Amino acid sequence: MDLGIGGRTAIVTGGGRGIGAQTALALAAEGVRVVVSDIDEAAAQQVADEVVAQGGGAIAVRCDVCNASDVGRVAAAAEDAFGGVDILVNNAGFNKDRYLTKMSESEWDSVVDVVLKGAFHCSRSVLPGMMARKWGRIVNISSRSVFGNPGQTNYSAAKLGLIGFTRALSLEQAKFGITVNAVAPGFVETELMRTNPTYESLRESATAKNPVGFLGMPDDIASAVAFMASERARYITGVTLYVTGGRFSS
Ligand SMILES: NC(=O)c1ccc[n+]([C@@H]2O[C@H](COP(=O)([O-])OP(=O)(O)OC[C@H]3O[C@@H](n4cnc5c(N)ncnc54)[C@H](O)[C@@H]3O)[C@@H](O)[C@H]2O)c1
Repeated sequence: MDLGIGGRTAIVTGGGRGIGAQTALALAAEGVRVVVSDIDEAAAQQVADEVVAQGGGAIAVRCDVCNASDVGRVAAAAEDAFGGVDILVNNAGFNKDRYLTKMSESEWDSVVDVVLKGAFHCSRSVLPGMMARKWGRIVNISSRSVFGNPGQTNYSAAKLGLIGFTRALSLEQAKFGITVNAVAPGFVETELMRTNPTYESLRESATAKNPVGFLGMPDDIASAVAFMASERARYITGVTLYVTGGRFSS
């Protein structure tokens, strides 16, 4: 199916690796020009180089999504290189897991900020252009952890907050031809998971609990994001698509 977004321009935050990198590549395969932004500039550059090597259009821009002036520079670079942004994927995120009784204020703040303040800054930076052109797609990467994971009060709260953000913003933007949706992955094999100290046991139990009997790969999420970002999804807004292999509870 042609997704109908060839020639559009996307910003993918946290696009240097994992789900973000795969999303950048999936969008590029649809003919979308991609601004790969990440706090890790070298990683972002590597993904942009890969897109270009495959015949697509891409630039890399270093950006901490929590920093308003970094975010402003990404939007300006996108405008300079490609003439405006049609698609934003709010993907940058990480977790700092600890039971609440042991969690520091900075562990709470950093996770809530990267998810919620990141979506706030990035969405604000692209919306005026989308509204002027009467077309836009914002896809927010939430998580199955919205149903609650022990050790993830910060992450679960932020990712559920992102769903509230998605619903409210979708209502504000519907009349401008802009859809705002969320994709909520279950366990996906990425560095985020591989660097977890309990990765092996986490992986084993996640596989056992997964109704489909296997764990998701970044490409499983990227396909869902590309669809939500597409022309084909024009009548879908304010929803959360769970891409979890059928698993919801912890
Ligand atoms: N992997 C999973 O199982 C899983 C499950 C549910 C949701 N998610 C969500 O999917 C998204 C991507 O996760 P992933 O597994 O690909 O993680 P990852 O750690 O492999 O990649 C995340 C990328 O975000 C970048 N990043 C981190 N902080 C940033 C910041 N402040 N500004 C800009 N970039 C920043 C990192 O440098 C990295 O390149 C995250 O929002 C994560 O919470 C992942």
